[in-house]
Amino acid sequence: MASVTFVSHDGAKHEVPLEGDQSLMQLAVDNAVPGIDGDCGGEAACGTCHIIVDSSWSGVVGTSREVEEEMLSMNPERHPTSRLACQMPASEEWDGLVVRIPEFQM
Ligand code: FES
Repeated sequence: MASVTFVSHDGAKHEVPLEGDQSLMQLAVDNAVPGIDGDCGGEAACGTCHIIVDSSWSGVVGTSREVEEEMLSMNPERHPTSRLACQMPASEEWDGLVVRIPEFQM
């Protein structure tokens, strides 16, 4: 089964099955991945699903859209490959994707 790996700030890895019709945020929350809160329910309005995409995957998963960009621009810990997991519809084509979770969410 296709999977995505969330890596916590302390290096702990959390492998989650990639299932369609859900965002990466929802997959993380449903699988109790620590550090992904998703407080706004996926509306790109809270920033608590901030992840950092492994640079080797940034060209595959695409770039942020305007609403996502606005929220990310307010994050002082933003990285060049930062994304909001709620704005990333899961795709089985992302099998093997690795994303990092920052130590603190906004
Ligand atoms: S869940 Fe709130 S911005 Fe992603």
